[in-house]
Amino acid sequence: MKKIAVFASGNGSNFQAIADAVRQGRLKAQISLLVCDKPQAYVLERALQAEIPSFVFNAKDYSSKIHYEAEVLAQLRKRGIEFIVLAGYMRLVGETLLKAYDGKIVNIHPSVLPNFPGKDAIGQALAAKAEETGVTVHFVDEGMDTGPIIASEVVEISSGETRESLQNKLQQIEHDLYPAVLQELLAGNKEELL
Ligand code: GRF
Repeated sequence: MKKIAVFASGNGSNFQAIADAVRQGRLKAQISLLVCDKPQAYVLERALQAEIPSFVFNAKDYSSKIHYEAEVLAQLRKRGIEFIVLAGYMRLVGETLLKAYDGKIVNIHPSVLPNFPGKDAIGQALAAKAEETGVTVHFVDEGMDTGPIIASEVVEISSGETRESLQNKLQQIEHDLYPAVLQELLAGNKEELL
């Protein structure tokens, strides 16, 4: 079973969906570590409940990204992590992790990329009065939401859509799509998705 680490900074509903999929056997992997950069994040409570170990760091305690990523990398190596899943991790991954996990880092983003990359993709879609948006799972490169796309799903933005209603729709899709795509990737069926 592949050992994966999930990186998250906030609520962790995607972390939860992935942990549930593992528990139910829909995702054949072991979440060996949660990496979190926010000591107050609710995702840490979820990890505790799921009995998944976590490594928490505060970027301000380090002089640079190179330094905190070196520490994160040591934690990943210690636990034999083979694959990194970003799930609401609010930092750009730097060269230390990109080199060590080349082609083995994925992210989920709440838009159909390349539309609305970066922060507040939902707000961007609403402000643009877009008729549709969606969710994308992609490989991570040095850019902001720019790596090769693995899978995406489109949702319509209905008239009278609020930020909350759209966010709910997108998160429901994320919670199904991410574990399913991860299962395909880890099983080596990536080509079918591309
Ligand atoms: C998700 O919408 C994901 O697409 C984005 O950050 C959000 C994280 O939500 N990258 P959660 O912490 O998993 O609930």
